[in-house]
Amino acid sequence: QSTSVAIIGAGPAGLMLGHLLAQADVPFVILEAQTREHVLGRIRAGVLEQGSVDLLAEHGLDADLRERGLTHHGIYLQYEGQRHHVDFVDLVGRTVTVYGQQALVKHLLAEHDRLGSHVVFEAEDVEPVGVAGSRPTVIYTKDGATEELECDFVVGADGYHGVCRRTIPDGGIEVFERTYPFGWLGILADVPPSTDDLIYALHRDGFGMHSMRSLEVSRLYVQVDPDESIDDWSDARIWDALQTRLGVDGWELTEGPITEKSITPMRSFVVSTMQHGRMFLAGDAGHIVPPTGAKGLNSAIADVALLARAILDHRAGDDSGLARYSDRALARQWKVQQFSQWMTDMLHVHHEVPDASARAFRYRSQVGQLEYVTGSHAAMQSLAEQYAGLPFTTE
Ligand code: FAD
Ligand code: DHB
Repeated sequence: QSTSVAIIGAGPAGLMLGHLLAQADVPFVILEAQTREHVLGRIRAGVLEQGSVDLLAEHGLDADLRERGLTHHGIYLQYEGQRHHVDFVDLVGRTVTVYGQQALVKHLLAEHDRLGSHVVFEAEDVEPVGVAGSRPTVIYTKDGATEELECDFVVGADGYHGVCRRTIPDGGIEVFERTYPFGWLGILADVPPSTDDLIYALHRDGFGMHSMRSLEVSRLYVQVDPDESIDDWSDARIWDALQTRLGVDGWELTEGPITEKSITPMRSFVVSTMQHGRMFLAGDAGHIVPPTGAKGLNSAIADVALLARAILDHRAGDDSGLARYSDRALARQWKVQQFSQWMTDMLHVHHEVPDASARAFRYRSQVGQLEYVTGSHAAMQSLAEQYAGLPFTTE
């Protein structure tokens, strides 16, 4: 077997890259470790930046998004029982779109089916070899048989736990990481959202958030300890926490049946390079953000937009895009990292700090920060500019 681009991972990064290559007639194969059902079943992120929406539209991949995406003009920031609207349209003339990653993956996969793309599910023991040379190979097992896929380039779109990054020899890559002493417990509930725009709330008990998936389905999150078990969170306890953390006078949070619940740990993580020879990393394989700024999925899309352009330029005889891919992707990513960390630090409570006075100091300065941000046009504009999304680099 041989192809031009061997894409490892059928998450948003791998599936989207496949489409960008398909539309330019570049041969590719996508190798995915999990089953199709598993890939389709993952819930995860929900907010698309304008740049992501535009990219999907430019490539004719927005039919479902146009039907089901919900345009939002801003977010609410909440603390100490007060709720403030941050209006992105007024501040920066842009909007964001709530559209679940699950719906995006489903649509991208359906379009690959329609095109007859080569997507291999349940590819076991995937291993890129020889990427430092001129003709890499990806070895994998399918239905018990060992397969070899020769290619020009390997793209590691295989997420944080993927194999590609781990094949880079010691000394070839450094990682920069921060873990947070909290996690997010997320639920999906069959109940119309109780809010028009997303609510991000700091409460003494911890962070709380109200998002949505449609006009019938709500998505909500509460900060929990990272090592807590979901079994300790009954539906009643979750709604109780949400009522407390999201509650403000004159507003009601409507409860409904919970259809999914899980806990996600939070970390910040960036590699020193997204390239090793003829292998390029994209999306979560190269960087992770805590979810507070809604940036994980958008960063994956920004990476593959840049990488696809670079691969097309290479085929036209210009290698400069590939040579600069890592630096450009990481330059954008570090800006996204600081924003995600800033949002996370502003909105989460450090219950683990043992000293009560130090804990109270931290909480009160967060309230001061939120008072400043919601009272300053300049600060709100900065938040809006970053939340709505920094420009995609494609030049
Ligand atoms: P992934 O979606 O992780 O896709 C990688 C793919 O590679 C997977 O299909 C995986 O099965 C496959 N793979 C892994 N190893 C191998 C291998 N060895 N061989 C072959 N295939 C392999 N972001 C937000 O903005 N908001 C959120 O609320 C949010 N919630 C999240 C919750 C969870 C539990 C997780 C894990 C992430 C969440 N994120 C969230 C982040 C966001 O979902 C990711 O940034 C996004 O999925 C990145 O896409 P990706 O394609 O790079 O990686
Ligand atoms: C959602 C997730 C996020 O991380 C976020 O910041 C906003 C919304 C969501 O799943 O809807």
